[in-house]
Amino acid sequence: MKTLRFGIIGCGLMGREFASAAARWMHLLEMGVKPEIVAVCDTNPKLTEWFSTNFSSVKLVSTNYQDLLENPNVDAIYCAVPHNLHAELYVNIIQAGKHLLGEKPFGIDLEANTKILEAVKANPSVLVRCSSEFPFFPAAQKLVRFAEEKRFGRILEVEAGFWHSSDLDPNKPINWKRMIAINGEYGVMGDLGFHVVHLPARFGWIPSDVRAVLSNITTTRPDGKGNIVPCETWDNAQLLTRVVSSDFEFPMTLSTKRIAPSETNTWFLRIMGSDFSAEFSTKQPKTLRTLEYKRGLAQAWQVQDLGYEGLYPSISGHIFEFGFTDSILQMWAAFCDEAIGNTPKFRCGTPEETALSHQLFTAALESQKNQSVVKL
Ligand SMILES: NC(=O)c1ccc[n+]([C@@H]2O[C@H](COP(=O)([O-])OP(=O)(O)OC[C@H]3O[C@@H](n4cnc5c(N)ncnc54)[C@H](O)[C@@H]3O)[C@@H](O)[C@H]2O)c1
Repeated sequence: MKTLRFGIIGCGLMGREFASAAARWMHLLEMGVKPEIVAVCDTNPKLTEWFSTNFSSVKLVSTNYQDLLENPNVDAIYCAVPHNLHAELYVNIIQAGKHLLGEKPFGIDLEANTKILEAVKANPSVLVRCSSEFPFFPAAQKLVRFAEEKRFGRILEVEAGFWHSSDLDPNKPINWKRMIAINGEYGVMGDLGFHVVHLPARFGWIPSDVRAVLSNITTTRPDGKGNIVPCETWDNAQLLTRVVSSDFEFPMTLSTKRIAPSETNTWFLRIMGSDFSAEFSTKQPKTLRTLEYKRGLAQAWQVQDLGYEGLYPSISGHIFEFGFTDSILQMWAAFCDEAIGNTPKFRCGTPEETALSHQLFTAALESQKNQSVVKL
C-alpha cells in the first residue's frame, strides 16, 4: 500500500468533503494507495481547526499556501479556493512539482485557464486533474459504457444540466459565487458548468457553435451586514449547441441554473438515439432509464434501480444505494490510482476538458451580448 501525502488548500465546503472521504478510505477495497492529509491551509485560521482536531496526520497548518509547496513531505494538493485565485495557485502548485486535483472551473476566465494549461504542458511529470464527481455515480458510468459501445445509433439529441433552487429566495445573502470579481463573468456557468460539459466532452461531443440565453434574475441581495448590494452574476444559463461529427450532427442543450424551483444539486444527462436512449438524474440517484428501439415494438422506457456498484470495489453491498459523498470517494480513488502510475478506472476531468469548457462559456457570453450564434 503506497501513501500519497496530501495538502489541502482551501478548507471551506469542498476542503472538508475531501478530508472526510480520506477519513473513510478503509471503505474501499483492493486499493494500492491511500491518501494521508499531512498539511492544510486557509487564510481563515478558524477553518483549519476542524482539520487539526479530526486528523492526527496533519503536521502543518498554515495561512500561507507557499508553506505547503515548499514542504517536501507533501506529494499532492487538493485545492478548493475561489475562482479568482485558481490561476495563481494552480500554476504555483504545478511548478512546485506537486500533483494537483484542482476544483473547477480551472481559472476565472479563458486567459487564466490558458495560463494553467501552459503550466501543465511545461510540467508533464505532474498529474493535474479537475474535480468532477457526478460521472462516478453507477448510473452515470452506465451512460459512459453505452457511449463507448456506441449503443445509441444516430444521436438525435443530448441534454445535460446541473440545477439548484436555493437562490429563488431573494433574501439569501450574497456570497463570493455571486460576485463577478471573485466568481467571474461566467456567473453560474463558472460555478456549475464544468460538471455539465465534462461527460459530453469525454465522449467527443464538442459543440461547434452556441446560442446562449443567460438570465440575471435577482439583481440585488442582502450582504449579511444590513445592506442591499448588487448581484451581477448570471443566475441561469441555457446553451443550445450544435455538435457536428463525421457521421452526423445533433443539438445538445447544456443548462446550469441557480434558480430552478425545487431542484437541489440535480445533475442529469439524457441521450436520445435512433437505436437506444438513456438517461440519469441525481434526483433519483439509483435509477437508470433506458429505451431500446425495435421497429414494430412498443417504445417503452425501462427503469432499473442500480445498487452500490462503484468503479472501485468497496465494503458496501450491491443491495445498498450510492450518494454524493460516495461519488467524491470514488473520484478521489481514481485520482490517487492515477497518481501512483496506474490507469484509473475512469479518468477525472482533464485540463484539456476544462479548456473546452472555457471556450464554450466565453462564446456563450459573446452570444448573449450580441444575441447571436457564435462559432467555436
Ligand atoms: N466539485 C463540486 O461539487 C464543488 C462544489 C462546490 C464548490 N466547488 C468548487 O470548489 C472551490 C471552492 O468552493 P467552496 O464551495 O469550497 O468555497 P468556500 O468559500 O466554502 O471555500 C473556499 C475557501 O478558500 C479559502 N481561501 C481563500 N483564499 C485563500 C488563499 N489564498 N489560500 C488558502 N485558502 C484560501 C477561504 O477562506 C475558504 O475557506 C471552487 O472552485 C468551487 O467552484 C466544487
